[in-house]
Amino acid sequence: MYTADTLSDRTILITGGGSGLGLAMAKAFAKSGADVAVCGRTVEKLQKAVKEIEEQRDGAVVKYYQCDVRDYDGVTSMFEHIIDDFGSLEGLVNNAAGNFLSASEDLTPGGFKAIVDIVLHGSFNCTHVFGNYLIDNKKEGTILNMVTTYAEGTGCAFVLPSACGKAGVLAMTRSLAFEWAEYGIRLNAIAPGPFPTEGAWSRLVPQKVMEKKFIEKIPLKRVGEHEELANLAVFLMSDLSSYMTGECVVIDGGERLQAGQFNFIDGLMSRKKLKKIFKAMKPKK
Ligand code: HXC
Repeated sequence: MYTADTLSDRTILITGGGSGLGLAMAKAFAKSGADVAVCGRTVEKLQKAVKEIEEQRDGAVVKYYQCDVRDYDGVTSMFEHIIDDFGSLEGLVNNAAGNFLSASEDLTPGGFKAIVDIVLHGSFNCTHVFGNYLIDNKKEGTILNMVTTYAEGTGCAFVLPSACGKAGVLAMTRSLAFEWAEYGIRLNAIAPGPFPTEGAWSRLVPQKVMEKKFIEKIPLKRVGEHEELANLAVFLMSDLSSYMTGECVVIDGGERLQAGQFNFIDGLMSRKKLKKIFKAMKPKK
């Protein structure tokens, strides 16, 4: 879909880029010409990721940085190192996240804080440091925030801290898209539906029966492929989307459309039987 120079004029940092969707995006960016920085908390994971990302393109410059996005000073120092190492930085993907299933009445303040700190404060910390770097150096840049389909509209039961954190990230995306447009900084978001990863699935879909239910409620009747999400991320990080800012693109196989008032009848019986009933209800000429 993209050429080797779709992103060839830029370096992109992906937080939480050592595994899962972050790694899938990092690989796609490298393949499309970008130099790539990834950060995370676990060095072994990052080292392995760097090798995989480098394999995507001869000559790709790929480096890792150990950083907990919750720590503003650590984030500041990481950006200084990245800019020293690469010479400049044009893109940021706020992908690092945390989540777990819990009845909300059983949450501890520490559990709520851990998730909101990673998701919302972590995204703010990176965005704030990166934004100031761009503004001070009169550089244009692109920021992509990974949110969820429940960040807007519905919220979500059993993942309250994540729902609150992601809603905040979406609000930040739109607030800054307006405020920083003047500096040539674009911010967009992706709201992914179910894309299985080791990290998310082990915490959120612990049983096969849940996975089956997940798939049943998706109109396209399958989960997403990492490459499908990575392709969208390349588009949003490249000049192909240069007139888009403040947008949240949903990629979920239609999962969010379940709320349609009569959608439920599709699951009641076969399409053949349904059509028979509809036909019987049609006024005779
Ligand atoms: C209840 C829990 C818990 C659980 C942790 N806590 N896990 N409470 N149920 N399963 C509580 C702890 O008791 C503690 O509270 C507080 O959270 C902090 O936990 P720590 O382990 O000390 O913190 P930390 O090491 O910082 O770990 C953060 C973490 C962890 C988020 C809890 O799971 C993590 O590092 N996750 C990163 C990877 C991840 O979560 N990936 C999934 C992202 S998927 P007290 O009271 O003792 O202080 C995603 C996609 C969403 O976001 C969309 C899906 C469709």
